[in-house]
Amino acid sequence: MTPTDHARDRRTYDAEPYLPSRGGLAAHRRAAADCRGCPLHENATRTVFGKGDESARILLVGEQPGDQEDRQGEPFVGPAGQLLRRALEEAGIDMDTAYVTNAVKHFKFTRPPGGGKRRIHKAPDRREAAACRPWLLAELRLVRPEIVVALGATAGRTLLGNSFRVTKDRGALLPMPPDGSHGPYAVATIHPSAVLRADDREGAYAGLVSDLRVAAEALAKSEP
Ligand code: URA
Ligand code: SF4
Repeated sequence: MTPTDHARDRRTYDAEPYLPSRGGLAAHRRAAADCRGCPLHENATRTVFGKGDESARILLVGEQPGDQEDRQGEPFVGPAGQLLRRALEEAGIDMDTAYVTNAVKHFKFTRPPGGGKRRIHKAPDRREAAACRPWLLAELRLVRPEIVVALGATAGRTLLGNSFRVTKDRGALLPMPPDGSHGPYAVATIHPSAVLRADDREGAYAGLVSDLRVAAEALAKSEP
């Protein structure tokens, strides 16, 4: 580590100072564009804030934007997003009626060894996820969904705490926050990218759809 790296490492990572003190989703989206709450903004193209309506009944949380999302500025518009759209549809949920966002709002990546141009996804670490959490909490507060879907481990930990495990917690209606005191229900499942990487893609996809059906059924029961 260089001295600069050390200085950066000691710095507190936190999006909180960048949040507007008032305003709705539009104001938050504008403010998030200038967030410097952690170092991930340095190499990414832009902040990818959530997309969808303030009145959405279901809110989906991914990990972080990927290459396509970083280019286009919208969550889940790449290959994982296409798969997610299809899985949601099979479960009876129209993705366009959902509010869709990520636990971390900037794309984290590495370059291939030897200096290739390709950008390889790198999972955000806990510090980065913790830093970015205030944006997600603001989205939850403004949208007030009935059901929150956590896609994968990063979203699950951010929403449900560090003891969250996809294998143990997926496919069930879970109170959120985990103390059950208030707030919406959460349903956790695997990340759509995990389906794309799985040896048994069909099995993984069926599991995703089946978990999403739990969310769809809960929505149908709660009726607006
Ligand atoms: N993966 C995610 O977690 N989020 C996106 O927006 C795209 C891919
Ligand atoms: Fe801010 Fe989140 Fe981007 Fe970090 S990842 S700079 S906390 S918006």
